[in-house]
Amino acid sequence: MQALQLSPGDTVVEIGCGTGLNFSLLHEAVGDRGKIIGVDLTPEMLQQAARRVEQHQWSNVELVPMDATRYEYPSRVDGVLSTFAITLIPEYDQVIRQSAQALSENKHFVILDLKFPENGRPG
Ligand SMILES: C[S@@+](CC[C@H](N)C(=O)[O-])C[C@H]1O[C@@H](n2cnc3c(N)ncnc32)[C@H](O)[C@@H]1O
Repeated sequence: MQALQLSPGDTVVEIGCGTGLNFSLLHEAVGDRGKIIGVDLTPEMLQQAARRVEQHQWSNVELVPMDATRYEYPSRVDGVLSTFAITLIPEYDQVIRQSAQALSENKHFVILDLKFPENGRPG
């Protein structure tokens, strides 16, 4: 979250946001004046995310039910986050390219995910 280097008022997009587990920390970072956009392919995940948004009474969260490869970013994006989602997307390179193009200058795309071990063996 710190690596995103978000400031109050920023717009941040989360790719594969799932149930919105990251929204609390994102909301802390961008504040009420900022905006959080959660993109996810699975309606059931977004239903839970919507419940979370409602419980916290966040008015600055937009949930987008869509394949990340088809998502069209807004004109201003100050950060992109994806946790445990990008490796589930076969066209991950396309998503990374689109996100990089959408980001404003000197802004960050942060990925937390799984990778194969360097020696090719698990554990
Ligand atoms: C393991 S969950 C992680 C959820 C959340 N980022 C977290 O860390 O709690 C992976 C999420 O990626 C979403 N996902 C998978 N493929 C996707 C795609 N092509 N476009 C958008 N979301 C996708 C799934 O629906 C799921 O909600």
